[in-house]
Amino acid sequence: MRKKVIAGNWKMNKLPNEAISFIEQLEPLVKDCENEVVLCVPYIDLFYSLLYAQKTNIKIGAQNMHWEENGAYTGEVSAEMLKAIGVEYVIIGHSERRAYFAETDETVNKKVKKAHLVGLNPIVCVGETLEQREQGKTIEIITNQTSKALEGLTEEQVASTIIAYEPIWAIGTGKTATAEDANSAIHEIRNEISKKYGQNIAERVIIQYGGSVKSTNSQELFSMPDIDGGLVGGASLNAEEFSKIANS
Ligand code: 13P
Repeated sequence: MRKKVIAGNWKMNKLPNEAISFIEQLEPLVKDCENEVVLCVPYIDLFYSLLYAQKTNIKIGAQNMHWEENGAYTGEVSAEMLKAIGVEYVIIGHSERRAYFAETDETVNKKVKKAHLVGLNPIVCVGETLEQREQGKTIEIITNQTSKALEGLTEEQVASTIIAYEPIWAIGTGKTATAEDANSAIHEIRNEISKKYGQNIAERVIIQYGGSVKSTNSQELFSMPDIDGGLVGGASLNAEEFSKIANS
């Protein structure tokens, strides 16, 4: 039985003091939650978030990392740096990073490998644009992104990689994929993993849905057999709303 992981992606939102009060507010609301609760916060909030989440069941993640250990990479943060302060999760290849910051399948793959090497749990984002969807290319795009992201990993590393299926047209638009559509896309991703690494490994991979997840649709989405939780943007900025999603 796979566990469900409900991760908030704050994107470029919240100052450290706001992160602290958010966690203080969220903690009692999710303390009995059976799902894994993760907050992926801006770099500047990581340390404070880790401090305030210390004796809670809330896990902290970053939203990006570099694949090199150190060096002349102005403005970058390495996996080792994240690990050193106690970060447990890291989002890799979010569509906003692919679109605005030149992230490619190759850089995503390098980052996923590095995350595993240092013991961070990568949450790898895949998803199609509206145009690709209308051209009937959804499955081709997302299975391709998935196999490239996982290239060169050991079976154990594949099994412990979290995939987030985020159709780009559903991000921040209020348009959610239907639970059936999301489930069948995720099922195809699992199939692709099964073809390469076998059914046993594929059955262990946690695959989330992301894109306009709210407390009003989370229950339906997360009850689908292949959907193992969600990556939540806008609705993760409000502690009460996010707690309802986490407790779905
Ligand atoms: P929204 O939930 O705001 O649509 O964002 C989804 C997302 O991009 C999470 O990574």
